[in-house]
Amino acid sequence: MTFKNILEKIAAQPELHAKWLNTLSMMENCGARKISASEHSQNVDLIVLKHAAEEARHAYYLKNQISKSGFEGCETYHPTSLLSPVQSFQYLHQLDVSISRYLKEKHGLKGNELKYGSYLLVTYAIEVRADELYPIYEEVLKTNGSSISMRMIIVEEKGHLEEMIEQMERFFDDWKSHGDFAVDLEKKLFHDWQISLQSEVDKYYAILQEIA
Ligand SMILES: [Fe+2]
Ligand SMILES: [Fe+2]
Repeated sequence: MTFKNILEKIAAQPELHAKWLNTLSMMENCGARKISASEHSQNVDLIVLKHAAEEARHAYYLKNQISKSGFEGCETYHPTSLLSPVQSFQYLHQLDVSISRYLKEKHGLKGNELKYGSYLLVTYAIEVRADELYPIYEEVLKTNGSSISMRMIIVEEKGHLEEMIEQMERFFDDWKSHGDFAVDLEKKLFHDWQISLQSEVDKYYAILQEIA
């Protein structure tokens, strides 16, 4: 099943759709918190502040869209209100851990440099994914005539990707090879996340069929 097929199945069921929006909201919120956590105590520029603020706003916006899904609930990020909660948390955490290890053990970064370098690579890989994922989701929403829209997020994520590249160019001698490493790693983790989402969706539909 392609990722678009999974999203079509999710968007067709209010409960799955609400949990999907909540899962995206949780991941955006985690992103915002990670950006803030990686900030230097003094060297904080406008780009970093803008990025943290916009990711937090995405989390808020996605949560706000849940009321349009036709399902009531998902007030919190409790695991029962998310899709594939374990894998969704792990996707971000594992990316963070593996990239920090790569920069520390292979490139000898430490302290604030390690923190900032990890922020750059983790966020870059996520932005590359966001630039692919949100337009696919938007297509599904459009086809369904949904009042939910990802247009604002798509525009801002595009800006984030450009800003990440600018920051990486300034920080790394060879940003592209580090960026490629991060993207390859993210692809594997995303694949596991997709498999887990698919199995949860399949289970939901199997139960629906049993009831019918
Ligand atoms: Fe975002
Ligand atoms: Fe972003």
